[in-house]
Amino acid sequence: MSELPEHVAVNREYWDGVAPQWVEAGERSWNEEVPSWGGWGIPESDLHLLPDDMTGLEAIELGCGTAYVSGWMARRGARVTAIDNSIEQLRTAQRLSHEHGVDLELIHGNAEAVPKPDQSFDFAISEYGAAIWADPYRWIPEAHRLLRPGGNLVFLGTHALVTVCSPIDGSYPISRRLERPYFGIHRMDWREAADDPGGIEFTLTHSAWIRLFRTTGFDIVDLVEIQAPADATGSRAGISADWAREFPTEHVWTLRRTL
Ligand SMILES: C[S@@+](CC[C@H](N)C(=O)[O-])C[C@H]1O[C@@H](n2cnc3c(N)ncnc32)[C@H](O)[C@@H]1O
Repeated sequence: MSELPEHVAVNREYWDGVAPQWVEAGERSWNEEVPSWGGWGIPESDLHLLPDDMTGLEAIELGCGTAYVSGWMARRGARVTAIDNSIEQLRTAQRLSHEHGVDLELIHGNAEAVPKPDQSFDFAISEYGAAIWADPYRWIPEAHRLLRPGGNLVFLGTHALVTVCSPIDGSYPISRRLERPYFGIHRMDWREAADDPGGIEFTLTHSAWIRLFRTTGFDIVDLVEIQAPADATGSRAGISADWAREFPTEHVWTLRRTL
């Protein structure tokens, strides 16, 4: 097997280590009749990230974690492949898919280099998987390669505003001031963060995302900047519900592969 890129190796070790802490959330999400998305649990009826009927569609989840999104797609009729970089996350995914009687093809690997032929899928999705943990300059072209012309890619991840308002030492809470430069954001290494040290994440400026989509061969169907609901309380990763009612914490891009 070829050597993993540094961020993929770092993130593999990180996710194998924290996987036990994600089991409970995975179990909850697998039990949800109606999908809900992101840190603020926005219902599918508001966001419409999945086609209602996925009968006959080939779908892939890129960075599936415990694979509840894959479960939701399978229940809508899709044949689902799910790839994840962490074998420990996949162990939970395998157990939960088995318990829920859902058949998934699970692959241990890097969503930047998926061992599947070109144009294998009609639909690709990532909620906080490849969407933030993989390098956009690698995984967006890879998602394009995997999709058939006309196929959709939907992904939900961290909004650039969160990055620029994150204190330089990675401490919580997130600031109401700009703490970092906006231009040039790409790779964020959170291994030495003062609070909740993590792995290596990625996001881009809006113009860099758009340029990447267009040069790769995607049309933009939609962009949603998620606002925390009026009744949301508490914090998610150092971001209070109050902050998230005033500023977007997450973005959802819907793209369509052009010919
Ligand atoms: C937060 S989970 C996402 C799954 C789920 N939607 C959730 O929010 O819990 C992040 C997952 O991304 C996976 N991941 C990180 N880098 C990846 C890569 N390069 N390729 C595939 N999966 C990756 C991690 O192993 C982890 O299981």
